[in-house]
Amino acid sequence: MRIRELILRPFRNLAAFQLNFAADNALVFGPNGRGKSNILEAISYLSIGKSVRGAKDPQAVPHGEEFFDIQAICTDERHDHQLRIFYGKKEGKKAFVDANPLPRVSDLLGVFRTVHFSPEDVSLVLRFPAQRRRLLDILISQSSGSYLRDLQRYNHVLTQRNHLLRAAKKSNRGHVDRQVMEPWDAQLVELGAGIRKYRLGALEKLNEPFTRYYDRFSPDKEEAVITYQGAKEGELEALRAELKEALERHRDQEAQMGHTLSGPHRDDLKFTLNGESAEIYASEGQLKTVLISWKLAEARYMEEQTGRQPVLLLDDVFSELDPGRTGKLLDIINEFEQVIATTPQKPDARQESSFEPIDLQK
Ligand SMILES: Nc1ncnc2c1ncn2[C@@H]1O[C@H](COP(=O)(O)OP(=O)(O)OP(=O)(O)O)[C@@H](O)[C@H]1O
Ligand SMILES: [Mg+2]
Repeated sequence: MRIRELILRPFRNLAAFQLNFAADNALVFGPNGRGKSNILEAISYLSIGKSVRGAKDPQAVPHGEEFFDIQAICTDERHDHQLRIFYGKKEGKKAFVDANPLPRVSDLLGVFRTVHFSPEDVSLVLRFPAQRRRLLDILISQSSGSYLRDLQRYNHVLTQRNHLLRAAKKSNRGHVDRQVMEPWDAQLVELGAGIRKYRLGALEKLNEPFTRYYDRFSPDKEEAVITYQGAKEGELEALRAELKEALERHRDQEAQMGHTLSGPHRDDLKFTLNGESAEIYASEGQLKTVLISWKLAEARYMEEQTGRQPVLLLDDVFSELDPGRTGKLLDIINEFEQVIATTPQKPDARQESSFEPIDLQK
C-alpha cells in the first residue's frame, strides 16, 4: 500500500496539516523544528499503531490539547483506503480502517506496512540491546500476526514469573517451589522457543540483502554481517530443550536476583564489519550505513514475506553520508515503489531526479 494523502488534525506541533503525495517518492524539506520527523512518525503510527520513536501516546498530543488525530488515504493496486488513529487523553486510542473501528489497535498491523529510519536510531540501536531486539520485533510483527501475539503472551508470562522470583528474593527464601514455577516455566519455554525460531529465521533471510546493500555502499568492500546472540538456528524441539536447560541452570541464581535470566528477552543482535564489532570500531558514517542497509533489507524481507513492498520512511537520511554513498542511496531509492524522506536542506538536482520536493515553508 502507498500513501497518497496525510491529514493531521492535530499531531504534535502540526495543528491542521495536510500533505498530498502526488508522486510516489517525496523529499520533505524545511528548517529544523518544522515538523519533518513528526510527519514520518505520524505516518508510521498508522502502520504500527504506536510511536516508532518509542514515545508514549500522550507525548504526541500537542501541548495544551486533549487529543491527536492522524488520517491518511492509502491505495493498493485497486482501491483507496482510509486509515485513522485517534488518541484522546480521556477516550484512549482507537484505530479505524475505512471508518470502521478495529477491535484492537494492534489489528492495524500488517494493513499498511512501513520501514522507518531515523538517525537517532543509529546510536540507540548500537548502544542498547533492547533497541536491537525491538528492531527485530517490529519487523517480524509487521509480517506475522502470530509473532506479536506470542511476544505479548511471552512478556505476560515473564512478568508473572518475575513477580514470583522477586517475592522469593524479598523473603530471603532463596528459592521458589518447583510446583509453583513449573507451569510458568513450561509456557516460557514453549513461547520462547517459538519466538527464537521466528527471529532466527527472519535474521537468516535478512542477512543476504543486508550484506548485499552494505556492499553496494562500501567502496572498500568491507563485509557486514548480523548474528543472533543467545541461540543457534535449530528445530523447535532443540530450542525448547535449550531454554529449558537454561532455566534449570539459573534456577537458584534467579531466586537470588529476583528476575528471569535467560530467554529471548535477553538475546541480542551483533553487527560486524570484516569480523569486528561495528558498535566498537565503525565510524559514524559506517554505522549509519549499517543501519540504512538493515532498513533496506527489512523492506526486502517484508516484501518477500507478504508479497507487498512497504513504504520506506527515511528521516534525515542524507546527513553525514559522503557524496559516493549519497549517490548509491539515491540509486537504491529508485528501486523502491514509495520512499518518503526528509532533509533540512533544499534538495539538490540529483535528489530532485529521485524525489518530488515538498517545501514545508509553503
Ligand atoms: N506534543 C507536542 N506538542 C507540540 N509541539 C511538539 C510536541 N512534540 C514535539 N513538538 C515540537 O515539534 C517540533 C518539530 O519537531 P520535529 O522533530 O518534527 O522537527 P524536524 O523538522 O524534524 O527538525 P530537525 O530538522 O531538527 O530534525 C519541535 O519544535 C518540537 O518541540
Ligand atoms: Mg527531524
